[in-house]
Amino acid sequence: MAAIAPSILSADFARLGEQVREVELAGADRIHVDVMDGHFVPNLSMGAVVVKGLRPATRLPLEVHLMVAYPDKFLEGFAKAGADSFIVHLEVLPDPRPMIRHIKHTLGKKVGLVFNPDMPVSRIEPYLAEIDLALCMTVFPGFGGQAYIPASTTRVRELRAMVNRVNPACEIEVDGGIDASTIGAAAGAGANVFVAGTAVFGAKDGPAAATKHLRELALAAQ
Ligand code: DX5
Ligand code: ZN
Repeated sequence: MAAIAPSILSADFARLGEQVREVELAGADRIHVDVMDGHFVPNLSMGAVVVKGLRPATRLPLEVHLMVAYPDKFLEGFAKAGADSFIVHLEVLPDPRPMIRHIKHTLGKKVGLVFNPDMPVSRIEPYLAEIDLALCMTVFPGFGGQAYIPASTTRVRELRAMVNRVNPACEIEVDGGIDASTIGAAAGAGANVFVAGTAVFGAKDGPAAATKHLRELALAAQ
């Protein structure tokens, strides 16, 4: 399985609905919504109002990547707006278990955990049995258009071995610098969900062709 998750951070916000429909028609599997608070990461992006606006525009699941210092403050608002899943950073959660359970059981949404390139991959292991997705950041979060950190490939391989042992149903996602030249390495190492912003919405031949091409490359490398 290779799921493509276009990140709307790199979309044309004046034509957001149109661009999301375009990648949906091209076979994108979910839409990745990057939420930044200016504290956990040095940039501001979007809030629940964007999810609310997109909800009627697409049937694709809306995946919310919370790059915020206090994720608990925002969960309910995004859930009400129509989010289907949340990905929260291990960096801001000394014990993520209460939040994992809240997202799954109270809000009834899917839950993922994410960690930055400088966190040991083993930190996620105790929680793998309870989550739907593990996201290995392949850049330091905050901005689209950064280069894939080459050491990420080994980290994804380590995560794949752990997931296979503990919870093979857990998806492995990569985010940051995923494009035609890097997706094969991440897929070969065991990732099966691929976030791509610049490589989709900044593509010369358009978002639809880029979505299809990225999936082909991922499938070929898996
Ligand atoms: C990084 C975000 C990413 C970003 C990816 O802070 O979490 O989702 O939008 O953008 P590209 O694909 O351009 O690296
Ligand atoms: Zn993201």
